[in-house]
Amino acid sequence: MGAIVSLLLIIAIIGSIIYKYEVANRDGANDNDAVTGQVPTNVDEQEPPIDESVSNIEQPTVTPNEDEEIKEGNTVPTDVPKANANGNGTEGSKDKTNAPKENENVSIENGYIVGQQPAKEPKYVDNILIANKKYPLPATFNEGESATARAALDEMIAAAGQQGYTLIAFSGYRSYEYQTDLYNRYVNRDGKDAADRYSARPGYSEHQTGLTFDIGEKGKEALWLTSEFGETPAGKWLATNSHKYGFILRYPEGKEDVTGYMYESWHFRYLEGDTATKVYNAGVTLEEYLGIE
Ligand code: DAL
Ligand code: ZN
Repeated sequence: MGAIVSLLLIIAIIGSIIYKYEVANRDGANDNDAVTGQVPTNVDEQEPPIDESVSNIEQPTVTPNEDEEIKEGNTVPTDVPKANANGNGTEGSKDKTNAPKENENVSIENGYIVGQQPAKEPKYVDNILIANKKYPLPATFNEGESATARAALDEMIAAAGQQGYTLIAFSGYRSYEYQTDLYNRYVNRDGKDAADRYSARPGYSEHQTGLTFDIGEKGKEALWLTSEFGETPAGKWLATNSHKYGFILRYPEGKEDVTGYMYESWHFRYLEGDTATKVYNAGVTLEEYLGIE
């Protein structure tokens, strides 16, 4: 009799453990990556997110990290506004991007113009929206994710799948406010000089354009946001083929003095038409291609 009671007790305990395990897995899968529904298993093990709403943690090469998210609700399907003939946001208006004028004396800190005010209008060059350390976006620039860029991303992910690479875009559009929080957390953690090499200050991030995605490979989450991802077959495939889908590797190796950021094997920027292929074939950065270094 005692043996039967013990047996029943053991079965009940095992059943309870299995139930808890399944619930934990199911709940985890619901609140993360909206692109695939996949949960990067190592995310929570890396470093506790400062902001509970952040589901992924970027870990670029140096020490730094950048955590990011793609969430439903962050993916507003709108395109960025088209530029006018003068290359700026408003036809006929004077430049309101707050970039320094020629011969203007400015001091530079980690690539940023000291004292630069937020832009009143976004900067376009040849109809290409610019977000870099020289040309910030207005804080109010909030177009959400570009539907065109998302469609191109989906096509690229499908093509990669044909080659056996399961790619995941783990970060996309970020609001000015989100970037503010993100950047401040990195500064608090690594200091300003280090953070400025891998995380854009608020208003300066290409993620705010809605045209940029950070991409990694499923099953290799430990390599997300590392330069090592660029050495993997999937990373190499992306670097070589992404231009066919309209994307460029935005911060190539050895170009930190031009782009302002360290090599980011994961950060891809969408460009309309065949511009990405032209940039790729030229073997230059977007700044060099447009002559805005
Ligand atoms: N990691 C890039 C530079 C960004 O924060 O936009
Ligand atoms: Zn990025």
